[in-house]
Amino acid sequence: MLYIGIDLGTSAVKLLLMNEKGEIKNVVSREYDIFFPQSGWSEQNPEDWFKEVLNGIDELTVNCDKNQIAGIGAGGQMHGLVILDKENTVIRPAILWNDGRTNEETDYLNNKIGKQKLSECTGNIAFAGFTAPKILWLKKHEPEAFSKIDKIMLPKDYINYMLSGVHCTDYSDASGTLLLDVKNKCWSNEMLSICGIKQSQMPKLFESYEVVGTIKKDIAQKLGISKEVKIAAGAGDNAAAAIGTATVGEGSCNISLGTSGTVFISSETFKADNANALHAFAHADGKFHLMGCMLSAASCNKWWLEDILKTEEYQKEQQNISDDKLGENHIYYLPYLMGERAPHNDTNARSCFIGLSMNSTREDMTQAVLEGVAFGIRDSLEAVKELGIQVNNSTICGGGAKSPLWKKILANVLNIELITPETEQGPGYGGAILAAVACGEYASVNDAVKKLVHITDKIVPEPKMAERYEKRYQTFRKLYPTLKNIFTEI
Ligand code: XUL
Repeated sequence: MLYIGIDLGTSAVKLLLMNEKGEIKNVVSREYDIFFPQSGWSEQNPEDWFKEVLNGIDELTVNCDKNQIAGIGAGGQMHGLVILDKENTVIRPAILWNDGRTNEETDYLNNKIGKQKLSECTGNIAFAGFTAPKILWLKKHEPEAFSKIDKIMLPKDYINYMLSGVHCTDYSDASGTLLLDVKNKCWSNEMLSICGIKQSQMPKLFESYEVVGTIKKDIAQKLGISKEVKIAAGAGDNAAAAIGTATVGEGSCNISLGTSGTVFISSETFKADNANALHAFAHADGKFHLMGCMLSAASCNKWWLEDILKTEEYQKEQQNISDDKLGENHIYYLPYLMGERAPHNDTNARSCFIGLSMNSTREDMTQAVLEGVAFGIRDSLEAVKELGIQVNNSTICGGGAKSPLWKKILANVLNIELITPETEQGPGYGGAILAAVACGEYASVNDAVKKLVHITDKIVPEPKMAERYEKRYQTFRKLYPTLKNIFTEI
């Protein structure tokens, strides 16, 4: 049988075709626009996502026996607010996970409602990117749009809704709304009432590996696939990536170097971070996880190379950054192009280069960008360590994981072993695995990942290099607190 995994990302949707043995038969990627209407705001059109998903499935399945396709599972960018009216029309563009317009609403939730209350109701505090502050923003700034809301959903849930007609979500993605009682796996009526919405507007909750329905007849016909194809609930992209990299069980770690950068720690039981740097969310294997998220990771590199240097030759820009330069760079880069979530929770933070001199080169700056992102990931890992969780190794996935240089920098900045699975397409592979489990091909998510996920490469930190990076990291750590007030001013 064949399974389609969808990774509904921020820069593109990546689709992957997997057989029952876990072999990847085809991968396609299709881009769509992202809009930045104001500094720190970001939006996309859900209709664009769905159009490219359909085009992508067409392209993905062109050379396969379409009768073999049994299931579809999606991992999607989290937290985005998608709203539909009674006629099922999208009311306004989706407000994305890295949108920072909800400063006031986040403050209101954390300080007026109070962090303690939020933690009691959901296990988490408010961050600007979460869905609940977006709903409050909409209520205040676009009351007409707010009054028309019939259905609220997350980005990948829009795809599932369009494919199956079922208004649903899964626990991992629902965790990032700040409307779910994560520990007890149900919507928090108190949070819904704080946001002025009703349970009838919310999607039905499923485990990620459950079937929500079958594909709609007209869509099946259009794609030339069976109308028996099952749609799995899927997961938030980080939980899906964790499945795609076999990050299940107690204490295992996955790092994602995608548009965002995340440190994901799988857990058998619900745990909360009292310091609130890490999110306490449900996992796609039916259990839980902790996660630190930086808002701009591979997107910093993309911005630097494509928008500023006007090149798409990533490899060429990195080829002269030799080992002797690692840990010796005098330039620092702060990776806060869209503000920052973990650990600063500051929508005003912005990026900058520090330490430039007359002999600084283009390469030094490229290296600084890679290092600045690695230091940001280290910030999340420090928050993990503060909870007494020991991390000795981690899998890594996401577009940034294609760069051997970046992985070496990261392994040495974090001073842990980095393990590369066969595919860096974590969320897409995870989505396909969830679909296979939903269709009964495997008894459980654990069983599936044990059989399907294979390791191809391991990067071990080098003690001298790790020591050099330790010093640089200690300097990096001082930069944000020093600049915090300046960021607010500018
Ligand atoms: C996680 C988060 C990001 C998005 C990116 O909390 O906001 O990782 O899911 O797609």
